[in-house]
Amino acid sequence: MTEPDYVAVNREGWTRANKEYTDARAREAWAQNEITWGKWSLPESEVRALPEVTGKEIVELGCGTGYFGAWLKRLGASRVVGVDVTPAQLETAQRMNEEFGLGLEFLLENAERTSLPGSSFDIVFSEYGASIWCDPKLWLAEAARLLRPGGELIFFRGSTLQMLCVPEEGPVVERLVRPQRGLYRLEWFDNDPAVEFHPSTSEMFALLRENAFQLLDFRELFAPEDAVDHEYYDTVPADWAKRWPDEELWHARKRG
Ligand SMILES: C[S@@+](CC[C@H](N)C(=O)[O-])C[C@H]1O[C@@H](n2cnc3c(N)ncnc32)[C@H](O)[C@@H]1O
Repeated sequence: MTEPDYVAVNREGWTRANKEYTDARAREAWAQNEITWGKWSLPESEVRALPEVTGKEIVELGCGTGYFGAWLKRLGASRVVGVDVTPAQLETAQRMNEEFGLGLEFLLENAERTSLPGSSFDIVFSEYGASIWCDPKLWLAEAARLLRPGGELIFFRGSTLQMLCVPEEGPVVERLVRPQRGLYRLEWFDNDPAVEFHPSTSEMFALLRENAFQLLDFRELFAPEDAVDHEYYDTVPADWAKRWPDEELWHARKRG
């Protein structure tokens, strides 16, 4: 099956990011005992967004180097499968998996349409993976297909406000620079080409409904007061994210 145009662009970007940052950072992330969310490492002990994972079968769509899946396996998940489209990211994930002996499984595929059997997971998870790099019309349908009835979907992405304030080049500014009307596919073709997807909040509500999901929780998250600029992801300075929410957490359940 031919892949959509943006998949190759993003694979190239993540191959570069793996070389520049994610591979070197992977061991520290896998070794981390505390579960944390997003760029500002918000502790799960404060965010309290994860459902019970003990004994659950989990698939992570766009797993990158697999550290979040590793945390979920350590927390008690019975099976964690990580899907990613970038070989370099999965090579790092597999190397860490062998080093830490956690028994995760990895699949090199487009998360918008996997070869995994339907109704085979209790939780679909994504932290800045399919949740931003895949077309929501496709990946949310795939998440619904993969989940058993009553299964849960948890995903994390940048906030809509951030997207409205991010110019074509450079970091976020303190004014709206993009229309919200028509906000869906965002393209960057500067020195780090990338294609992201970001339907607005109400459009996400509609997409979740269309895919038989019931929304359980939606959070807008700020950087903590002591946050400093992220060492690699520089689109949002800490000072901005202390005043406006730059990240979002979504939790939904597939209707039985
Ligand atoms: C930011 S990482 C997510 C992993 C991790 N939670 C993190 O925050 O670093 C984004 C991952 O999404 C993957 N990705 C991008 N497009 C994808 C697609 N169509 N299917 C599967 N994975 C994809 C990239 O290869 C990359 O490894």
